[in-house]
Amino acid sequence: MTGLAVREGNVAAYKFTDLHFDKLRMLVAETTGISLSDHKRDLLYGRLTRRLRALGLQDFDQYIALLADRPDDELQNFINAVTTNLTSFFRENHHFEFLANELFPQLEKQGRARGMRIWSAGCSTGEEAYSIAMTVREYFADAGAMDIKILASDLDTSVVQTAANGIYDQSRIEGMPPERVKRWFQRGSGSNAGKVRVRRELAELITFRQLNLMQAWPMQSMFDVVFCRNVVIYFDKPTQSRLFNNFASVIKPGGHLIIGHSETLHKVCDRFELIGKTIYRKPD
Ligand SMILES: C[S@@+](CC[C@H](N)C(=O)[O-])C[C@H]1O[C@@H](n2cnc3c(N)ncnc32)[C@H](O)[C@@H]1O
Repeated sequence: MTGLAVREGNVAAYKFTDLHFDKLRMLVAETTGISLSDHKRDLLYGRLTRRLRALGLQDFDQYIALLADRPDDELQNFINAVTTNLTSFFRENHHFEFLANELFPQLEKQGRARGMRIWSAGCSTGEEAYSIAMTVREYFADAGAMDIKILASDLDTSVVQTAANGIYDQSRIEGMPPERVKRWFQRGSGSNAGKVRVRRELAELITFRQLNLMQAWPMQSMFDVVFCRNVVIYFDKPTQSRLFNNFASVIKPGGHLIIGHSETLHKVCDRFELIGKTIYRKPD
């Protein structure tokens, strides 16, 4: 494919050459770990033209120059534009059932539930972390006094902000059992009609942070469970391998790593054993 302007109805189009695509996807890979295949060309174009328009730029040459010359101004917007943030409450529900039916009873029996640390790595807009918090609170009646902490991180600053706000369209909780909705969400009224806010008891278990998994991790503590679901799907295998090995270094012996439905550690990382559907355990 060569680089003539892509038509977008009546909206002004920009010339997007193979060279533009290659330079930009290289920058995506370097900064995020995400490797974009050839068929992601239109997707990248579509997402970045919004940035060109917002900045009033004439073409992709100007945009690439801006990223090189003033990364402090634009690199984060660029990253936010290229991430894919699809998520939902209790997505892949069997992972939350595993926590409630197997892991929490086990840790409780071993006296290891107090001080439990859980990391939602690549948390997007926060639904995963709040689902973990609901599962914790529903299992441990006195969770607030047990020093249980959930870290929720993502490299995209706009989704981390949404996650920390904890306000969602009501449509996001459709299908959730009514008793759960009643217990954990407040319905908005007036200008917030049609929205729900997660209750303070959930939010207070969670710390939200911007964190790029490809860069050094500042955390001091070791984790009992790491959720890293549907994040590495666009990483190449060596990048996945590096990341999963890094997780192995911050997960306690006997701790767990939970990944997404289309992901696997097979031939990528041998520091965990598979104990359930996309659920891995680090040996003692
Ligand atoms: C598809 S969402 C998955 C959200 C949630 N874990 C789930 O399964 O529902 C993937 C998230 O990974 C984040 N992500 C991608 N690369 C990342 C990186 N290098 N460091 C941190 N987060 C990253 C994206 O910003 C995005 O929000």
